[in-house]
Amino acid sequence: MSHPNSGSTRNILVVDDEPEIVACVCEFLTGRGFNVLGLSNSLEAASRLGSFRPDVCILDFRMPERSGAELLETIKQYDFRIEVIFLTAQNEASVAVDLMRKGALDFLLKPLELNQLLLSISRALEHRRLIIENENYRFHLEQLVLEQTKALNQALTGLEHVYSATLDALSMALDFRDQSTSGHSRRVAELTAGAASAMGIKDAALVQIEHGALLHDIGKLKIPDSILWKPAKLTEDEWKIMKRHAEYGFEFLSNIGFLKDAAEIVYSHHEKYDGTGYPRGLQRDNIPFGARVFAIVDTVDAMIYKRPYNVQVSFREAAAEVRRCAGTQFDPSLVETTLAYLDDHVPPQLK
Ligand SMILES: [Fe+2]
Repeated sequence: MSHPNSGSTRNILVVDDEPEIVACVCEFLTGRGFNVLGLSNSLEAASRLGSFRPDVCILDFRMPERSGAELLETIKQYDFRIEVIFLTAQNEASVAVDLMRKGALDFLLKPLELNQLLLSISRALEHRRLIIENENYRFHLEQLVLEQTKALNQALTGLEHVYSATLDALSMALDFRDQSTSGHSRRVAELTAGAASAMGIKDAALVQIEHGALLHDIGKLKIPDSILWKPAKLTEDEWKIMKRHAEYGFEFLSNIGFLKDAAEIVYSHHEKYDGTGYPRGLQRDNIPFGARVFAIVDTVDAMIYKRPYNVQVSFREAAAEVRRCAGTQFDPSLVETTLAYLDDHVPPQLK
């Protein structure tokens, strides 16, 4: 699209197959300070739009090479902001109305009244000025919105980095205390998020699942060292205290706005599909989706990585155990997809 004529002189294109009318209008308008191009050939008019850049076109309706209606279409396609005024004979008035519907601004009846023409041109120029002003305003508004959106996105990205760093620091604090599971939190967070993503979860929901998996055992920060690090089997009472880490984790995170859904996963990460888990004995879909995926990932991870209190098994054996517990401990509808994802992502030496 061409740019509007920015100078103070206005460009008027006059096209009529009667050279006398063209000459008369040109002389009149030139005398009024306009920059005028007069043509008797409508085909030539179309080819001169780019070089002359008219503000207003005055067109005869009935012309032999290309009709005024066709020329109107060409002009509006080139730049819809160019105003078009038609010159029509008395019996063409109904056609002129149709032309106005197609974008013409005005029509004047022949024989032409020059003062009327001048009035029509000044209305057309004002109309065009308003359209361009409106367009510029809209453009600036769009630019402003784009700039603000960009600045907001940058700020949000910065915040996300701060969040991630904070959460990593929290999970590292836990890993420092419970070195037997070092690296476990970050690993199960990535695998749980990956498996959930493979099942179509995305955006904010996926981020919450990753955060929840990362911080699943954060409540252990509140478990006494004597229990957390006890080398022997825990007594029943000690187990009761140990099991409270799910609630502690929930209490810890549920007041943090951006971790609300993650807190629910932390709360539910020891629930079992058949309702025999803890702390609330939730069943089936009452257990958050992220916690159900996490349970499978966490169990496999705990079995295939060596820890002080477990016998390390291969991924194949761990997967068989998960399948055996589908429907009791694990959601049977998530078992195969999660195992397939893990199969693709656990290190080959652990297979
Ligand atoms: Fe736990």
